[in-house]
Amino acid sequence: MLVCPKLIILGLCLLTTSCGGDCPVECKCVPLDRGALRVDCSFRDLNSLPSFPKETAELLLQGNQITTVPAGAFDNLVNLKKLNLSSNPLHCDCTIRYLMMWISDGDVEIDDGIRCASPLSLYGERVSQLAGSQIASCSRHPRLCSDFLFNDAFLHILIILLLFLMICCLAAFKKIKFQIKVSDHSVDHKWYRYTRARFLRRRSYTYWKDE
Ligand SMILES: *[C@@H]1O[C@H](CO)[C@@H](O)[C@H](O)[C@H]1NC(C)=O
Repeated sequence: MLVCPKLIILGLCLLTTSCGGDCPVECKCVPLDRGALRVDCSFRDLNSLPSFPKETAELLLQGNQITTVPAGAFDNLVNLKKLNLSSNPLHCDCTIRYLMMWISDGDVEIDDGIRCASPLSLYGERVSQLAGSQIASCSRHPRLCSDFLFNDAFLHILIILLLFLMICCLAAFKKIKFQIKVSDHSVDHKWYRYTRARFLRRRSYTYWKDE
């Protein structure tokens, strides 16, 4: 019976991969003092970053094929003291901004060898020394006509249809209001004629009785 909760926890761990102390399968984790970990993922031909345990104090990523560090990749590593990312073919387009900021913000000891491999104009530049102006802007590429046709045109048509429907509804509503008013009026009129006829009839009746 005790197996069940353990299985559930294991399942949750597999789903979230955020359970403390889980070593990425590609890496080797060595415990340091006070629960800290050295996570050694060096020279593994990795081309993307696995998720690291939050106890990671030293992260060795040198000698891989990592081209980008996605925004937020190191945010949960609050105990990180050392990072080695040298000998990775980093592509220094606008996505490198996260790493630049992360390096300049934190007090993590980083290796000098974190350098751009591409684009050609930035080859060999240290990421820690890059200026914002050297990095291509993050604005989107000019979009293709087909993008417009399949995404925006559809939206625009939808909006126009909605507006058209709204106008139709408003017009219909106005018409109904007008009809109610007109019929109210004709009811009033009929009622007036009816009561007046009754009054006249009664008056002639009393005259007739008096005579
Ligand atoms: C980082 O890794 C490179 C390549 O293995 C190595 O030459 C360098 O000494 C390492 N840096 C540190 C600070 O350990």
